[in-house]
Amino acid sequence: MPDAPLRLAVLASGRGSNLQAIIDAITEGRLRAVLAVVISNKAEAPALERARTHGAPAVFLDPKATPGRDAYDAVILEHLRKHDVGLVALAGYMKIVSRVLIDAYANRIMNIHPSLLPAFPGLAAQQQALDWGAKMSGCTVHFVEEGVDTGPIIQQAAVPVLEGDTAASLEARILAQEHRIYPEAIQLFAEGCLTIEGRRVHIR
Ligand code: GRF
Repeated sequence: MPDAPLRLAVLASGRGSNLQAIIDAITEGRLRAVLAVVISNKAEAPALERARTHGAPAVFLDPKATPGRDAYDAVILEHLRKHDVGLVALAGYMKIVSRVLIDAYANRIMNIHPSLLPAFPGLAAQQQALDWGAKMSGCTVHFVEEGVDTGPIIQQAAVPVLEGDTAASLEARILAQEHRIYPEAIQLFAEGCLTIEGRRVHIR
């Protein structure tokens, strides 16, 4: 009997276009996973609606109800365990993940960032690339550790920065690549193809 599909949780704070790319990959059979739960720190996040449309549990957890990063992540952890989650994908999740989650899900939390890390970590990465005068930028899928945008790199895609680009036009070019490589990276995890050795992620 084949192994059960990966049970995936997505944490998202906003628009959720990466979540949608993941949902589409599941629906089209490119990603062998079940969307076990989508959790947001924003009640109005369109990502929650996308989850509901797909028929996945969509949970808003109010940070004000559980002050403190560790306490909030402990509540998230309860939901992850309740839904028997095997991998957590951050997709536009605008909170820093604490040790509580990182220890419980060691090497099982991924993030996508809109730059070629280690260049331009943090907020407004596309604007940072423009301001720096970079000729290439792109996106990175990486495992999450305690630092912001610092974990071992799984997958990257590069795009050119073009004459006349604005942050919005560069964002759109990068986003198209995000939507391609994030489901791919999750599928590699689902197939058991990823091993971590120090900072390096080996893909079998
Ligand atoms: C993406 O650019 C992602 O790389 C970054 O936040 C944005 C989220 O977009 N971490 P969306 O909510 O997935 O549309």
